[in-house]
Amino acid sequence: MEDDAQPPVGGHAGVVEDVRLQKVLARVGYGSRRVCDDLIAAGRVLVNGEVAVLGRRVDPETALIEVDGAPIGVRPGLVHYLLNKPAGVVTTADDPRGRPTVVGLVPAEPRVFPVGRLDADTEGLLLLTNDGELAHRLTHPSYGVEKEYVAEVEGTPSRAALRMLREGVELDDGMTEPAKASLMDPSVVRLTIHEGRNRQVRRMCAEVGHPVTRLVRVRVGPIADRSLAPGAWRELTVGELRSLQQAVATKPDR
Ligand code: URA
Repeated sequence: MEDDAQPPVGGHAGVVEDVRLQKVLARVGYGSRRVCDDLIAAGRVLVNGEVAVLGRRVDPETALIEVDGAPIGVRPGLVHYLLNKPAGVVTTADDPRGRPTVVGLVPAEPRVFPVGRLDADTEGLLLLTNDGELAHRLTHPSYGVEKEYVAEVEGTPSRAALRMLREGVELDDGMTEPAKASLMDPSVVRLTIHEGRNRQVRRMCAEVGHPVTRLVRVRVGPIADRSLAPGAWRELTVGELRSLQQAVATKPDR
């Protein structure tokens, strides 16, 4: 094992070597390695729910590490916002066409970036953060984080159309992965996907003959909030952040 191996902030596929826990903590800002050893010795650090001992090595890509009960992503300076994006707002920091942006709807400092993207005409839940590692995992397809959408569509999808949505639809960039699809109302589909291709839900629905007339994202992984008004944002609770961290702690086998 190579103790000086860089912990893969990017979450690469392939073999990941274990790294000393004090080193992982030091790299994410808990202080010098000595200070981090003191944290471990004081029993303040848990790895996958168990108190860590000095000298412990971890796979930084998969271990759930907590300091004083908070996942290491909650270290000072990191913020995690949940925004209910209204239609007409673009998912970028700057829009050359001068349209309102999601970044303009949350506090300017510290600077945050959107986790993934919603089309300008899509509404609903969007995470914004300055936590690069968490954002990477939430958007990387290998972690397979579910995104749930409510799509108002033209016409009424048949059972066969819903089955196609579930089993996979041939799009111009390839087949879609299995999804969950059900009818909430004659022209309202609930669709849960774990990929994040461009305009994927709109293209899937159009491909089965039911173009989307309105699209709302209602859940990202474990995070849902039916009471957040359009345009409003709030910080994630510690419990929500913990459940998000758990959702991306390991890569599912597919
Ligand atoms: N699928 C879409 O078609 N649009 C979005 O904004 C998100 C998912």
